[in-house]
Amino acid sequence: MRPYTTLSCAVSLDGYLDDASPERMILSNDADFDRVDQVRAESDAILVGAGTLRRDDPRLLVRSPDRVCDRLAAGRTASPMKVTVTERAELDPQAHFFTRGEVDKLVYCGGDGVDEARARIGRSATVIDGGRPVSMGAVCADLARRGVERLLVEGGGTVLTQFLVEGLADEMHLVMAPFLVGDSRARRFVDDGHFPWRRDSPAHLVEARAIGDVVLLRYALSERCPG
Ligand SMILES: NC(=O)c1ccc[n+]([C@@H]2O[C@H](COP(=O)([O-])OP(=O)(O)OC[C@H]3O[C@@H](n4cnc5c(N)ncnc54)[C@H](OP(=O)(O)O)[C@@H]3O)[C@@H](O)[C@H]2O)c1
Repeated sequence: MRPYTTLSCAVSLDGYLDDASPERMILSNDADFDRVDQVRAESDAILVGAGTLRRDDPRLLVRSPDRVCDRLAAGRTASPMKVTVTERAELDPQAHFFTRGEVDKLVYCGGDGVDEARARIGRSATVIDGGRPVSMGAVCADLARRGVERLLVEGGGTVLTQFLVEGLADEMHLVMAPFLVGDSRARRFVDDGHFPWRRDSPAHLVEARAIGDVVLLRYALSERCPG
């Protein structure tokens, strides 16, 4: 009853998603961005946390004109639906998430923040009361009811942790950059948690591929993942 869900992110060799500087840290390369673009093109929705919206201001659109054409020819929107989750509703209506792309934008908001969120971004997105706190399982079920069959989760760490701890993911694409961040103020890939994949129940490695100077590790996290 939930979409086929792929988690995707890039980390440093010491497991950070970013550094602690004001600028966004790029951990991938053009060839890998193109690979992610293909995964986006195959998805019905892309989800990121509100922290990533504030920090990175991502567009979350399919970039390749050929892939956009293929989607349109198949009767789909040019890019997948965009989805975020927030408790505080401190979202900028001018963020690329809201202003770029003729696609549905859904904001799942924790109880007290719903009115605030509707006042701020209700004109450019659908604000949904997601409970308090927002349950990722409920978000996934609601997305499935809205026709989302393939969900791509692009971070950040708070969101990835919940999908992993709650066993809501089918596949994970982890890209490793060839350097270390070495600063514990930076955002780690995941927080503490009781993850289903432990020493005695490891994830299944489906693929390890060098893409220029980064490495893609693709893990099956459920029996729904082929290979
Ligand atoms: N390297 C990569 O591939 C990659 C990818 C994505 C992000 N990043 C990095 O990751 C960092 C951001 O990660 P993050 O962990 O700070 O933020 P995040 O996971 O993107 O978002 C966390 C925020 O999402 C909202 N949220 C999460 N779970 C919720 C729930 N169950 N209910 C209600 N709201 C919920 C809260 O928003 P409110 O605070 O608004 O309530 C929370 O503060 C940035 O540095 C970014 O650059 C890196």
